[in-house]
Amino acid sequence: METQRKKIIVATGNEGKMNEIRQILGKENIVFSSLKDEDLQDVQIIEDGKTFEENAVIKARKISDITGRMVLADDSGLEVDYLDKAPGVYSARYLGEDTPYSVKNNHIIKLLEGVEDEKRTARFVCVIACAFPDGRTITTRGIIEGRVGYEEKGENGFGYDPIFYVPDFGCTTAELSPEEKNKVSHRGKALMAMYDELIKEKVL
Ligand code: IMP
Repeated sequence: METQRKKIIVATGNEGKMNEIRQILGKENIVFSSLKDEDLQDVQIIEDGKTFEENAVIKARKISDITGRMVLADDSGLEVDYLDKAPGVYSARYLGEDTPYSVKNNHIIKLLEGVEDEKRTARFVCVIACAFPDGRTITTRGIIEGRVGYEEKGENGFGYDPIFYVPDFGCTTAELSPEEKNKVSHRGKALMAMYDELIKEKVL
């Protein structure tokens, strides 16, 4: 007997994130619907939070209030210790929203010119928020530690992946296969933690 798949809206227009969310949790009994799928891509969401948690909740809450449905949102970014944790919550807007990532990535490499390995530490952070129609929200967080590389490497992933070097793998997250990245990534960890929470909440 075929089990019923649950549809969950994800408050994102970022295709890189959406692909990974589908790969990570798509095999469970869930089908994910993006803002585009829901024809909500033009909804203005002002991400004026100071933390990943605040911004994830802002996005999930707004779309849940509009649709009356349970909604997930992902707020994530790259923290570079040498740059006082920049770009952090501004990762998408860093140097301008529409600036190509090759420019953003090479800018960061340049800012770290001459900086030795030990001081190039960085991490990807991901917070997943779930907003319920009754007004409650829950969040989960995942982190992957690494370093800023010396040049862009790899074709997989998106955003800052080509400069995010993971010493345990000896390569960047853009050189990992999607399966390898999802197993160890900030997003993989935060989503699996959210999956456990939703099981506890008995909504899955
Ligand atoms: P948000 O849409 O405000 O959460 O911005 C997230 C931004 O952080 C993305 O647009 C990327 O610039 C960056 N980012 C988050 N997760 C990843 C990842 O897995 N790989 C590369 N860049 C990421």
